[in-house]
Amino acid sequence: MSNENRTAGPGFPTTRLRRLRYHPGVRQLVRQTRLSPANLILPLFVRPGENFRQEISSMPGNYQLSPDLLAEEVREAAELGLGGVILFGIPAEKDATGTDALSDSGIIAEAVRVAKQAAPELLLITDVCCCEFTDHGHCGVLTETTGRMDVDNDATLQLLADQAVVHARAGADVVAPSGMMDGMVGAIRNGLDGAGFAHLPIISYAAKYSSAFYGPFREAAESAPQFGDRRSYQMDPAAAAEQAIREIELDLAEGADVVMVKPAMAYLDIIRLAGDHFPGVPLAAYNVSGEFSMVKAAAQRGWIDEQAVAMESLIAIHRAGAGIILTYWAKDVARWLG
Ligand code: PBG
Repeated sequence: MSNENRTAGPGFPTTRLRRLRYHPGVRQLVRQTRLSPANLILPLFVRPGENFRQEISSMPGNYQLSPDLLAEEVREAAELGLGGVILFGIPAEKDATGTDALSDSGIIAEAVRVAKQAAPELLLITDVCCCEFTDHGHCGVLTETTGRMDVDNDATLQLLADQAVVHARAGADVVAPSGMMDGMVGAIRNGLDGAGFAHLPIISYAAKYSSAFYGPFREAAESAPQFGDRRSYQMDPAAAAEQAIREIELDLAEGADVVMVKPAMAYLDIIRLAGDHFPGVPLAAYNVSGEFSMVKAAAQRGWIDEQAVAMESLIAIHRAGAGIILTYWAKDVARWLG
């Protein structure tokens, strides 16, 4: 009795699921997960200079670019029909509070203006965080009040709000806070609203785990913590999955418009849980640097087929419930779908 009605229809041989796979046209007909360039966001790294283009050794095909070359890159992203780009900045000077990120003449502000002019119709997202701008590499200002060096949550909030306003003033279409500070979405929402940017959406990195999969990114953004790690602010991979729901709930209450799970491949359960829990809330996932680099490295050795593995990974992330995917393969996917 307990096994009755588990599947639609009677069993074998009346039901043969291979009939759904027999003909390529039938497979195509019953397919539900379809990737589109319009749902993909390409991360880009920008640094000061001119005609500067340096490949990130651990992320083949990805570059640190000066603003003038960023312009070409965003034009290409627009032509390929991507959903948008997200900008990360590497400043000329780093200091304890990440001053460059707070300046209208800082690298991100300049990059936003250049990119906006080059491709006005392309959705331009900025990452809001301190780690690329601080000399210690942490995602906020430091304090010793808890007995050991740690990021001061509340003192960081104003910096994040100020960064977001700088990005908005430069022309960013969306801001995406990634620092995992409690209250960051609310602080940024307040800052934006007060500066006349109440219309600007926030994509919150709501459930962001303390992950070894960020390794190559930290080379790309030169943002590795100079001491310690990020475990006192990013989530513990072994924490109850429902902690991700609490994070998302809080961010939504503070005004997040889109929420993100990060990384993606090792967190498909979290993506699924979040999607089921908040139907109707746009959900993004970040297919992070390590996920990309592993496939690249194996493909370079001829061990796996890059295109096939990348597409299968992105389909899995999409199928799990992420309608929006940040991925270093965004341009490739647009070409592969062709
Ligand atoms: C900044 C930030 C990081 C990533 C995105 N935003 C690095 C980190 O948290 O250390 C990682 C993205 C990737 O690995 O592709 N806080």
